[in-house]
Amino acid sequence: MTLSVDGARLRADLEELGRIGRVPEGGISRTSFSDADRAARAWYLSRCAEAGLSAVIDGIGNIIVSSPAVPKDVAARPAVWSGSHIDTVPNGGQFDGALGSLAALECLRRIHESGTVLDRPVRAVVYTDEEGNYAHLLGSSALVRGFSRAELEAMTGRDGDRFADAFIAAGGDLDAAATVRVDPSTIHATVELHIEQGPVLEQRGHDIGLVTGIVGLGGGTLTFRGRADHAGTTPMNLRKDALRAAAELLASLPEIAASISDRAVITSGIVHVQPGSANVVPGIVTCSIDYRDLDPQNLDALGAAITAAAHNVAAASGVEVEVDFEPSIPPAPLDAGIRAIIAESAASRDFVASDLPSGAGHDSQNLATIAPTAMIFVPSIDGRSHCPEEDTAWRDVENGANVLLDTLIALATN
Ligand code: HGY
Ligand code: MN
Ligand code: MN
Repeated sequence: MTLSVDGARLRADLEELGRIGRVPEGGISRTSFSDADRAARAWYLSRCAEAGLSAVIDGIGNIIVSSPAVPKDVAARPAVWSGSHIDTVPNGGQFDGALGSLAALECLRRIHESGTVLDRPVRAVVYTDEEGNYAHLLGSSALVRGFSRAELEAMTGRDGDRFADAFIAAGGDLDAAATVRVDPSTIHATVELHIEQGPVLEQRGHDIGLVTGIVGLGGGTLTFRGRADHAGTTPMNLRKDALRAAAELLASLPEIAASISDRAVITSGIVHVQPGSANVVPGIVTCSIDYRDLDPQNLDALGAAITAAAHNVAAASGVEVEVDFEPSIPPAPLDAGIRAIIAESAASRDFVASDLPSGAGHDSQNLATIAPTAMIFVPSIDGRSHCPEEDTAWRDVENGANVLLDTLIALATN
């Protein structure tokens, strides 16, 4: 008899988590280690405890949940991981990350409460700071690559706050965070359920997305340094206007993206102007840069093209520019074998499934560097995400969770 999720319980969990960090603008703000994120983590841990599951929190705040009912010999074998994130972008939606985190918990709960005996353990995971307020895919990057204490101390958030301060205030220890790494031999495979965050499945009228690969991501901050001057007495031709230079660079981004590939995307979502007064020529402007492509060469070419354009614009405007980009996270092809298992589950449940790449970044692209990894997408209504309008039909939530459950059981069975 095929095990299935408790769709009503999963929906109730998603609705309850969706109330934590709800903001007047209509969306959800659960920036990692904010009060809302800490409340969400506490709520998630309480749901694990209510289900009789054991949760461990690693040195950087990743939560790893297992069933204590698994026999010791089985528990010692390489595990099947499934999870996502519960931090959000500011004024984000209630499904991004939450779906994969809570569906993984629901699958583990169903395996645990049904007494289903498997040949490998299944683990539910919540990764820290997937949205990269402090660093792209922070928690899973720590697991697969690690961070030094100095790197952690240098991290700052979109509001200029320090990761170290927020993390320590949340009870974290930087030395413990600097030692986080996972032993790849302890992971058999990983699977993440996620909303598509785009329009493809909805346009195709399909139920399940078989994710073929995840875009690589790069970026960081550009700082243009000009000269603050009086807005009334400084002639236009004598200005070293940092905002004019930044604006010229930002206006050129679509052309830069198109020059690299038709899938390349570049976004600047945060711009700070100093001193920030209407009657002062801007002296310093910082802007965030986020660039992506499915091809690793294109990703490198994007970073180089943006850097060159920034220097050219700065030189032409008589200002200085600093390019401060994080190491890029490479594109990740996903495991075809697990994708076939997902497709088999979808077919067995009469869902229509099709292949597609992910334009969004995910923790799975880190996990894919150390273990066979796959992702399952379900449709996003109107393709919207990272906004209060983000929505997915409850039928699709349950469909995705059931396909995830089938896949986890198949991977945990010899
Ligand atoms: O930015 C992304 O693609 C992901 O939502 N962190
Ligand atoms: Mn996400
Ligand atoms: Mn996201």
